[in-house]
Amino acid sequence: MVEIAESWSGLVIDHLNIGLLMIDREGQICLFNRALSRMTGLKEDEVLGQSLRSPNILFQTIITGREFQNLSPGAVLPVMGSCNGSTSTHIIRNKSGVTVGAIAVFIPAGRQQELKDAVIKAEKLAILGQMAAEMVHEIRNPLTVIGGFMKLLQQDLKGTPKEEYVTIILAELKHVNRLISDFLQLSKPGYSKRTQCSVTKIITEVAMLVENEASLRKLDIDLDIATDIPDILGDSDQLKQVFLNIFKNAFDALACGGKIFLQTSWNRHEKFVQVIIRDTGTGMDEQTMVSMFDPFFTTKESGTGLGMFIIKKIIDNHGGRIEIQSKPGKGTIVTVFLPAN
Ligand SMILES: Nc1ncnc2c1ncn2[C@@H]1O[C@H](COP(=O)(O)OP(=O)(O)O)[C@@H](O)[C@H]1O
Ligand SMILES: [Mg+2]
Repeated sequence: MVEIAESWSGLVIDHLNIGLLMIDREGQICLFNRALSRMTGLKEDEVLGQSLRSPNILFQTIITGREFQNLSPGAVLPVMGSCNGSTSTHIIRNKSGVTVGAIAVFIPAGRQQELKDAVIKAEKLAILGQMAAEMVHEIRNPLTVIGGFMKLLQQDLKGTPKEEYVTIILAELKHVNRLISDFLQLSKPGYSKRTQCSVTKIITEVAMLVENEASLRKLDIDLDIATDIPDILGDSDQLKQVFLNIFKNAFDALACGGKIFLQTSWNRHEKFVQVIIRDTGTGMDEQTMVSMFDPFFTTKESGTGLGMFIIKKIIDNHGGRIEIQSKPGKGTIVTVFLPAN
């Protein structure tokens, strides 16, 4: 077991794009990875066992207990005098906290720029997302005004050929409002709020929320909730959204008299909570199975196509996964796996 672990970590170290150099407490080089060989032109076996003692800054890291950042590579390895990039030194301690050596990390200049660019891009996207959410929120107010006046006009135009236009406008407004509601689910503040939450409580609350609609549509919901489910770390509002969206889809797929079965269980070995929601509805064809998680993909006249996209995003953010089994005419089984702490 140990050997496998060692050879795997060795492989990882050699495939990293950053250079690693480690010395033991005596200053002897005990690790020199492949990226550093490429950067320096030195071979691992030429270097291993060589001494890097004072005044070398990596050795000083051990002596003084002080770690250094943003050094030029040449400051640690003189042969890298002309290399661009950035180097930092870190103390290595064993499990008991005793210093056993020090490691230098060499990040080449290009790579550093790549990392900086990635951070800037992520920040830009976050700002854009925030702006989009605010914009969409602002659009709601004028839409409410338009809807209100349209309803007044509808009364005036009752029985005239133009009444139909207003009906269409109102239906489209409803659709835009639905799109906005779904979009805002994705960009709610506190997006990554994580607390201990109970899947049982979440499911019970969602079941209460949908009970009324189910009885109006004459649909049966059968709950089989396990009692031994541990809490998970997550955002209970978002998880509620997940199960609400799954229920809504099941409702849409069911005709009068259809059934929904929900079962929760706890997989002790793999440490995840499993929620299965099965409906006896229309099921999905292959094309729908392939595209259902795409944003705006819908087979419904008044659908937004954002439900499954949001479900997947939230579950991914919780480190979980979702599986769908479905056959046209045979119904659908949605299984959500959420890792316990
Ligand atoms: N339980 C289900 N039964 C049948 N089809 C489903 C089910 N869940 C999802 N789908 C299919 O996936 C599509 C995308 O779902 P979703 O993203 O929630 O958007 P919307 O519900 O607005 O159409 C639906 O239009 C439907 O075709
Ligand atoms: Mg939906």
